[in-house]
Amino acid sequence: MIDPFGRSVTYLRVSVTDRCDFRCVYCMAEDMSFLPKAEILSLEELDRLCSAFVAKGVRKLRLTGGEPLVRRNVMWLIERLGRHLQTGALDELTLTTNGSQLARHAEGLVKAGVRRLNVSVDTLDPARFRKLTRWGRLEQVMEGLAAAKAAGLRIKINAVALKDENEEEFDDLIAWCGREGFDLCLIETMPMGDIDGDRTAQYLPLSLVRARLARRWTLEDTDYSTGGPARYARVAETGRMLGFITPMTHNFCESCNRVRLTCTGTLYMCLGQEDAADLRASLRASPDDTLLAAAIDEAIGRKPKGHDFIIDRRNNRPAVPRHMSVTGG
Ligand code: 5AD
Ligand code: SF4
Repeated sequence: MIDPFGRSVTYLRVSVTDRCDFRCVYCMAEDMSFLPKAEILSLEELDRLCSAFVAKGVRKLRLTGGEPLVRRNVMWLIERLGRHLQTGALDELTLTTNGSQLARHAEGLVKAGVRRLNVSVDTLDPARFRKLTRWGRLEQVMEGLAAAKAAGLRIKINAVALKDENEEEFDDLIAWCGREGFDLCLIETMPMGDIDGDRTAQYLPLSLVRARLARRWTLEDTDYSTGGPARYARVAETGRMLGFITPMTHNFCESCNRVRLTCTGTLYMCLGQEDAADLRASLRASPDDTLLAAAIDEAIGRKPKGHDFIIDRRNNRPAVPRHMSVTGG
């Protein structure tokens, strides 16, 4: 699949549920209304949709949410999708998770063919963790991480950089990841969906953070890439990778290789734009995939050039009305 700007689309991210057992302050309002159950695709339909993308050349699938592992029976879907790894049609099947359910699922994930996980941990302080996630328990996530590590999964920690919240902790996070053998990725907050708080107050440009970290750590530039938007440096002292995802300060759209599917079958061609294609209608219109394949082609033909997120006092409105939990991170 080649988009109008010559970019080849080989990476599909699928939000299997918009629900979550946490309520991170930068992601959700405390009182969220979720998509009506009746509109959610069944796991069989999600499998069919993902498989149609694999047939069209997608090589990497990432399941996200919300929290993907809170969806009932999600392991069935993950095992089904694992068959594309066995045939060689897919290079990688992976998840972005908050880690809360990993203790019980880590081994199953490995059996299904998952090798790598992104786990969100914004702070190592239990009280601050509770404050930032509103509902989460750090200890439970740590147990999940231990299980994932024991099962042999490679782990990248995602931390959203939040001014006055975790900005003093990045040194600790780097050192902890070094000890645990995890890579770390820092992410700028993106203006997606209404939250109860003020995004301008949360926003911390990573250009600033990087300059600060470079005083304490030896950051060696690399061209390491996992197929996502992060730019990586190697931390010489720990030997681990440190990534920066900078949707606000650096626009990385020119190398975008991905599209995003929601659990209702809506395809977003860009995280930061509203244009979307309803694949559920095409999926349900016929039992074979001809219509669906045509709808996918049509959507890829509309993939926009890029996003333009702005966070400042005058623009204190979400750039897109939907939350990250709808389209997945
Ligand atoms: N801006 C930046 N990152 C976000 N995440 C969730 N909402 C936002 C937002 N508005 C992060 C999660 C997770 C990743 C998938 O996206 O913390 O690490
Ligand atoms: Fe849930 Fe992830 Fe959003 Fe936190 S950031 S509320 S863990 S979906």
